[in-house]
This record gives sequence, structure tokens and C-alpha cells, in this order.
Amino acid sequence: MEETPHRRRAHTRSSDLERYAGLFAARTGVMRSSAMRDLMAVTARPEVISLAGGLPDTSTFPAGTFAAQMTRIAQESTAEALQYGPTEGFAETVDCILEVMGAEGMLPDPDDVIVTTGGQQAIDLICKTLVDPGDVVVCEAPTYPGAVPVFCSYQAETIQIDCDGDGMRIDELEAVLARLDGESRRPKFVYSVPSFQNPAGVTMSLERRRRLVELARQRELLVVEDNPYGLLRFGGEPLPPLYQLDGGDFVLYVGTFSKILSPGIRLGWAVAPPPVMEKIVLGKQAADLCTSTLTQHFVREYFSERRWREYIADLVEIYRGRRDTMIAALHDQFPAQATWTEPEGGLFIWATLPEYIDTSDLLAKALRKDVAFVPGQAAYVDESRGRNSMRLNFSGVNDEEIREGVRRIGEAISEQVELYEALTGEQEVVPAPREKPESRPAGDVLPFRKSGEGAA
Ligand SMILES: Cc1ncc(COP(=O)(O)O)c(C=O)c1O
Repeated sequence: MEETPHRRRAHTRSSDLERYAGLFAARTGVMRSSAMRDLMAVTARPEVISLAGGLPDTSTFPAGTFAAQMTRIAQESTAEALQYGPTEGFAETVDCILEVMGAEGMLPDPDDVIVTTGGQQAIDLICKTLVDPGDVVVCEAPTYPGAVPVFCSYQAETIQIDCDGDGMRIDELEAVLARLDGESRRPKFVYSVPSFQNPAGVTMSLERRRRLVELARQRELLVVEDNPYGLLRFGGEPLPPLYQLDGGDFVLYVGTFSKILSPGIRLGWAVAPPPVMEKIVLGKQAADLCTSTLTQHFVREYFSERRWREYIADLVEIYRGRRDTMIAALHDQFPAQATWTEPEGGLFIWATLPEYIDTSDLLAKALRKDVAFVPGQAAYVDESRGRNSMRLNFSGVNDEEIREGVRRIGEAISEQVELYEALTGEQEVVPAPREKPESRPAGDVLPFRKSGEGAA
């Protein structure tokens, strides 16, 4: 049989690498791989329980609705849905975006909005617009793992500010800003996911939100608020987004349909004042000309049914139950030394293990047990941080899978603990039983404490 020519190169050889290495741009030297993308190949195997992805549960979207909407698009708008569109996005898509932002009390000017290929592209375009190599970008510690490769590829100097149960420590941010003042430097922006943060699950308190916006206005400091999860609240009182508190002068906003409708449609947006937006639009023209017109039509159809808030309410019910299942499973299966966050919304729990457990090593063991999570170091630019933490997703898996997945991870942790004790002869000091999880000892990076305590 004849060999198929394009099948020849199954593996990259070192001689292949040498051939191209001299051609690479300097920025490729600091590019980082996205931890989730790497894991996707493994987690696609049906036997693997993945607590790794940030996957919303798309199985709950009614297939009949999807079919009817796509049929309507085919019948009424085939030519336009298959054509290029404006770089800024269709006005009708922007109307849908205004509705979503309005649900959280925001009222941007439609001209300040651009439709992007997911929130991910919005982060990329903002960096493309603002960041030169060596510029300072400030973000939370831990931060959204998908933002780390973006900051790295624009060669930013990224400074991460610790989070606690009330989100980013604004006192620490102020100390960093003062230090930078002393060096005559200032950050290009502060990036924050203030509500149900990815990966930590924590929410920035109202006091800190106000202080951050006050700092932004006093210092003319840009803040990038990334808010995919604000509407996915399971309990507690809604908090105003930073964008609402600021009114859109210094807070740029990133949103997405991924977690309230579908990540497969790849529709997100950015909101920025006109001078910044002008550059973002130029950046997008260079990147991909326009966002998918087909999926913009889908969103238009979907919103015209006026059921989008009901669908979010359904998702919230499902995710609340799954969060509770995961917390119960963690209590049952994780060692007493572990701590974790208990989010009031969103998709993630952040767990911290004894310091001697490296969660990247643990992941290798967990994958042998067909379970995956995101190791904490993916949420840090300095990869020596977050090594004993992990991000666990509870939205994309059912209750049974959550229980079994956490059981398998718990088993892998127990094996590590036993090995450590056998090698060192040490017995870890086991803290008091954990009826009151809030009172457990502080984790390494994200101290676990009741909201309202500590610094603003
Ligand atoms: C904080 C945050 N920002 C941005 C994104 C990117 O989402 P998308 O590109 O699907 O809109 C995600 C996805 O998980 C996220 O959690």
C-alpha cells in the first residue's frame, strides 16, 4: 500500500526543532502552554473523569430549541449568516450583550462594545493594545490560568497579588503600587475576576471593589474586569461589578456567552472607552477580521425567545447542587490537613494540600486513576507558586462523577501522604475535626477565613 505523505511525521524530532529554532520570535521563548488545553487531549478519553476543564453543562441546553433556531437562521438569513461581518460585531449581538450587562446593573454605550471570539480573545486584544515587553501587569494570585499564557506571550512582567476569602488583597496592591511609584513605573492595568473567581472561587467584597475603583480613579490606573460568572450566583447578595462602580472610565470590561449559553459558539466581548476601543478594533482586524457571523445569528435568535434568564436559573440550580456534592465529597475523601474554598457561585473550588504534596506530580498519579484536575501552578506566572494547590471544576460533571472523581484524587493524596510519612518518619499533625471548615488553618497562598475579617 502506498504511504500517505502527510501522515509521515508522527513525532517532532530534535533535528526538526533545530531546523526552525533560529527562526522563532523572542516572545516564543516565554510563551506558556495553557494547562487546560494540554489536559484536554487526556480528558477527552471517555473513561477519564475530568474535574479539570471549566466546562459548563451544555447537555442541559434543549436540543429542540437549538435545532429550531438553526433552521430559522437557514430559512431567513443564510446569506448573511455565511458572510463576513463588521469587525465590531452586529448591532443585534451588541443589544444582547447590553441585556446581559444590564442584568448586573451595567449600562455601557453600545459604541464602547466589541464582539470578540470568546472572552479569551478580549484579554488577548487588550494586552495587544496596552502591553509592550517588560510592562507591568498586575493580577490576582492565583489568577485565571488562561490569562497566564496571554500575559507571558506579550512579555509582560506580571505581579500577582494574593487573594483571601474576600478576593484580591487591596492593601497588598497598594503596597505594590507604592513600590512601583518608587521605581517610576506603573502597571498598564490590574486584571481581576472579582466574582466567583477562576480558579479560587472567591468573590471580591464590596469594600474592596469600592477601594479598587477609587484607586483606579485617583491614579488613572486601568482595571480589566473579567466577569464570566457574575450571573451564576447560588447564594448571598449580588455585588456591583467594578464597571458599574466606575462607570467605564478606568474599568475595561470582558464578558462572554460561554458560561451562560455555550463556549462552543466562541462569543465574548470587550467594553472600553473610545480611544482604547479604536486600537482594540485595529488589533481584531489583524487577528481575525470579525467574530463568527453564524454564531452571532444564533445568539440573536436565542435572545429573541426571551428565555435566557430562565436558562441561567436552571444552570444555577444544577451547579449549586454539584458544588454541595463536591464539598461533601471533599470532607469525606481529602485528608484533614487540606483546605478549600466554598464558592457562592461560578464553576470552581480551589483546594490546598499539605506543602510537601506537589499537585503536578499528584496529577500524573491521578491520571493513572482516570481522573484529572488543574494543578495550582497553572494559575501563577512564577511556576514555583501554587504547587500544593489544585483547581476542581464541579459544573461539567454529574454528582456521581464528582463523588467518584474526588474519591480517586483523595486516594492518590493518601498514597502521597503515606509515602511521605514512611520516608520522613513524620506523622503530619492533624488539626481538629472540621465541622467548621471556615476555622481550619490558613492555606499557603489563599488563607481560608470568614469573609469580613482582615484587611480591605
Ligand atoms: C475568567 C475567565 N476569563 C475568560 C475565559 C475565556 O472564556 P471564553 O473565551 O470561552 O469566553 C474564561 C473561561 O474559562 C474564564 O474563566
